[in-house]
Amino acid sequence: MRFRFSAPSPILAPRARAASRLYPLLLDRLIRGEVIFKSVIDVGACDWFYAEALAHFFPEADLLGLELDGGRRYLNLFRRADLGRARARALVHAGRAAEYRHSDFLDLISSDVPVGNGPLLFTFFFPFVSRDPCVAWGLPPKFADFSAMVLHACKIAGQLKREVWVLSIHQGEWEGSIAQGVFNALGLAARKEVILPEDFREFWPAAYPLEGFITRL
Ligand SMILES: C[S@@+](CC[C@H](N)C(=O)[O-])C[C@H]1O[C@@H](n2cnc3c(N)ncnc32)[C@H](O)[C@@H]1O
Repeated sequence: MRFRFSAPSPILAPRARAASRLYPLLLDRLIRGEVIFKSVIDVGACDWFYAEALAHFFPEADLLGLELDGGRRYLNLFRRADLGRARARALVHAGRAAEYRHSDFLDLISSDVPVGNGPLLFTFFFPFVSRDPCVAWGLPPKFADFSAMVLHACKIAGQLKREVWVLSIHQGEWEGSIAQGVFNALGLAARKEVILPEDFREFWPAAYPLEGFITRL
C-alpha cells in the first residue's frame, strides 16, 4: 500500500499490529470479492485500532467509524475518540476518505452517510448482543440491543439509493446464535462463517471460535 501509519501511542501499537492480521482474515472469510464496497460505516469503532486494516481491505471505500463511548480515557490520558480521530487523520493524510465520529449509531440519519456511489457496508465487529458484556464494558444495558442496531441499518438502507450490506462478527457460538436469531427475526438471510481459533491463535488471544455473518439489506 502507498500509505504509512504511525499509531499515536506505542502502548496501543501491538493491538493495531494484531488487528492488521485478524480483521483481514475475518473480512476475507465473509467477503468473497463479488461486491466492491465504496463506503464502509464501522459501528462501535472503539479507538479504531483496526482502521488501517479496514483501509487496506477496502481500497476503494470511504470509511466512517462511529463510537458511542469515545470519551473514555486511557491511562496515558488519551481518550478513545482522540485515538480514533488521529487514526482517521492519518488515513486522510495518506489520501483516503476517513472520518471518526464520537456518536451513537442509533442517531445516524441517512443524510449523515458519506455521499458516495456504489455499495455501502455496515460493519459490526464484536457488538454487544447480551446485557452482561455491555454492563462490564461500562455501558447501560440498553446498548446491548443488536436487533435495534440491525433494524436501524435497515431503516437507513431503505432511505438510500444504494446497495447496502451488513457484516457482523461475534465472540463464540453463544453470541453467534443470538446474532443469528436477530437476522432470522428480521427476515434477513445472512450467510454465516465460523473462524476457528487455530486460524488466529498465533496473533489474537481468543480461545473460542468467532462467528461472522453477512447479508444484503
Ligand atoms: C465490544 S466493543 C467492540 C469494539 C470494536 N469494534 C472491536 O472490534 O474491538 C463494542 C463497541 O460498540 C460501542 N457501541 C455500542 N453501542 C453503540 C452505538 N449505539 N453506537 C456506536 N457505538 C456503540 C461500544 O461503546 C463499544 O466500544
